[in-house]
Amino acid sequence: MEGGAPIGPGRQRQAEIYFAGIRGKVPPVPVDPARLEERARAAMSAEAFAYIAGGAGLETAMTANRASFDRWRIVPRMLRDVSRRDLGIELFGRRLAAPFLLAPIGVLEMAHPQADLAVARAAAAEGVPFVFSSQASVPMETTAAAMGDAPRWFQLYWSSADEVMESFVRRAEACGCEAIVLTLDTTMLGWRARDLDLAYVPFLYGKGIAQYTSDPAFMRLVDESEPPSRPPGPPTFGQLRALAAIARAHPGSTLGNLRSPRARTAVRRFFEFFPRPSLTWDDLPRLLELTELPVLLKGILSADDARRAVQMGVDGIVVSNHGGRQVDGAIGAVDALPGVVDAVAGRVPVLFDSGVRCGADAFKALALGARAVLIGRPYAYGLAIAGEQGVRDVTRNLVADLDLTLGLAGVASITELGRDAVVAEHR
Ligand code: FNR
Repeated sequence: MEGGAPIGPGRQRQAEIYFAGIRGKVPPVPVDPARLEERARAAMSAEAFAYIAGGAGLETAMTANRASFDRWRIVPRMLRDVSRRDLGIELFGRRLAAPFLLAPIGVLEMAHPQADLAVARAAAAEGVPFVFSSQASVPMETTAAAMGDAPRWFQLYWSSADEVMESFVRRAEACGCEAIVLTLDTTMLGWRARDLDLAYVPFLYGKGIAQYTSDPAFMRLVDESEPPSRPPGPPTFGQLRALAAIARAHPGSTLGNLRSPRARTAVRRFFEFFPRPSLTWDDLPRLLELTELPVLLKGILSADDARRAVQMGVDGIVVSNHGGRQVDGAIGAVDALPGVVDAVAGRVPVLFDSGVRCGADAFKALALGARAVLIGRPYAYGLAIAGEQGVRDVTRNLVADLDLTLGLAGVASITELGRDAVVAEHR
């Protein structure tokens, strides 16, 4: 025995699962990442699964995310006291019990009707910050209210209408978000073969635009614009289905929304304003001056971009290729990490996401210099399978796995973890 040391989240979770096994229960939310994805597929519509699981083009950036993790190997060290393991980190003045956040994922209503609310409750219960998406299914104020004082951040897509961008930032500040994550890699939607072959994108059905339809600046733009003209001829079944979905998704009564053109106009305006492909480095000071909150840039994959971002005064970087959803053929995110970490040289925290599926992945990213790791698709899968509890299970499994991996590799605390804990495999 280890002299009364706390058993830690890894052994605790193992014990919970194995003892449940004696009662004949296996985990309802699979631990194995491939089985987790399979179970989630069964719990969702074909469209929802394609939207969440899919990547850009031939999905080679998704494959590269996994391959880049596999090229790094952990070098376990022996005979070190690992009876007490400290997974805690400090991030923007907050002490977190584990180095994880829940990544911004849009349109969570496709995975589960409670969507962002279930994730928010799970995040609060597990003490893991939740990054609200600009494409969330629930307005940020409602999601924040479900979290008490638990930490949350806001992910910003910079709208073509500056007043909407500014309004999003003000609302995020007002509902207690502690950082703004500006996502840069989605100036347009990537070429997503799975969605294209189903001819389905959720936004056209009014899904994933709740931050917009709850926004006074955006709705002012809606009210100032001409309603969309009706297509000629009697509506098809598909059009009626889309109209009904839009009316249901929009705030207010469905019947009222069917009668008024406002909900349809909001969808159209969203598409007009959503992407801002013209965004450049010159726009950045505007956001940095707008808010006192830390601003992180998400989607950085090059050392030069990271260096420039830090020079301009950003407060953090998120190395990410958006889970391979944007640029087919993009560099695996882990391959980009050491270069970015070196360029940043400790001046601001570097966070990481894309392809994290297990404790070893998180270990490798942290060893290569990430301060924290964002969990992406796995929590959306947990949500699809079992709502709030599913997100909690996925989060706890990752924390447990990281805890055990750390200990078994001879590392007692995240702060001790460095590049000497991993080696690059020869290709
Ligand atoms: C995302 N991601 C994302 N990122 C962002 O900044 N804003 C968003 O609204 C979304 N929406 C979104 C929807 C879906 C369905 C997925 C799968 C992903 C990207 C996300 O934050 C993160 O970068 C990736 O999920 C990381 O890749 P893995 O680990 O999920 O493969």
